[in-house]
Amino acid sequence: MKFKRKKGFEAIVAMDENRGIGINNRLPWVVPMDLRWFKKKTINKTVIVGRLTAESVSWKPFSKRDNYVLTKQESSEIRDGWLKYSDDLKQELISRGSFILGGMHIYKLFWDDIETFWVTEIAHKFTVDTVFDLDFSDTEWAKEFVSEHGKTNQSDHPIKIYKYSRL
Ligand SMILES: NC(=O)c1ccc[n+]([C@@H]2O[C@H](COP(=O)([O-])OP(=O)(O)OC[C@H]3O[C@@H](n4cnc5c(N)ncnc54)[C@H](OP(=O)(O)O)[C@@H]3O)[C@@H](O)[C@H]2O)c1
Repeated sequence: MKFKRKKGFEAIVAMDENRGIGINNRLPWVVPMDLRWFKKKTINKTVIVGRLTAESVSWKPFSKRDNYVLTKQESSEIRDGWLKYSDDLKQELISRGSFILGGMHIYKLFWDDIETFWVTEIAHKFTVDTVFDLDFSDTEWAKEFVSEHGKTNQSDHPIKIYKYSRL
């Protein structure tokens, strides 16, 4: 008999045509439409990032969100506005409907616990040093088109947004 998988985390990522997600510990692009989407999905939620991603936003916590960071360093290193993630919080954070925000180490760490993955595909090839190298295989994930947005005054790069759900 097949049991329904327990509810897991949601996750969100934006990637380019080569699955690039970062360069020099920042995003390779400025795409305001995607930032608006990111905010809409994660606002008032609990969000979880790796220490390098926290650094990439200059340790500025995401506003109106509870911010957790993963680090192997002592808790004294955690900056104001951040909470330290530990594994004994996992079930509680899953049941709250928390979001994994990356980066790549953290997507990999939580991959088996992610139930829904929101993916923005940016129609451009950027110079990157961090690549999303996890696979949404057809046998494990259902892919659903969510929306698309063309060039705007603020960005030359059209985007498509997809929802991946664990089967
Ligand atoms: N395009 C997107 O949607 C998106 C989203 C997020 C991030 N990014 C980009 O991705 C890049 C950063 O990603 P990254 O993979 O290099 O770094 P990351 O995943 O953000 O952070 C890695 C850090 O997380 C901590 N960590 C990893 N595994 C851990 C574990 N098992 N337990 C506790 N702590 C653990 C370690 O911190 P300590 O060294 O302190 O122990 C490690 O150095 C940046 O370029 C960023 O802009 C892109």
